[in-house]
Amino acid sequence: MTSTRVLALDELSQDEAHRVVVEGIAIAVVLDSSGTVHAIGDTCTHGDISLAEGFVEGDTLECWAHGSKFELTTGKPLTLPAYEPVPVFAVEIVDGDVYIDPSQKLAV
Ligand code: FES
Repeated sequence: MTSTRVLALDELSQDEAHRVVVEGIAIAVVLDSSGTVHAIGDTCTHGDISLAEGFVEGDTLECWAHGSKFELTTGKPLTLPAYEPVPVFAVEIVDGDVYIDPSQKLAV
């Protein structure tokens, strides 16, 4: 598999999540307040909810439905009710564009 361009870096707003689909996998792309771009599985492991519709708080993405917070770097849930992690994917920034290879999981 190869990396796929998903969007331009300037399409991302700080502390907001943007849903993309790469090779059939829904991924939430997040630009955190330190300027780091994260790619985290978009589907909450507690229910069929898009995490990109939730809230970025520091290094977490919070599901709007029941409040589970997932760590952006590891995908681990830090709060219940979710207890299963979501996958985290490698991100590359090339010439101002964001690339993700969904076959390269950093965690899970
Ligand atoms: S669906 Fe996400 S915490 Fe319940």
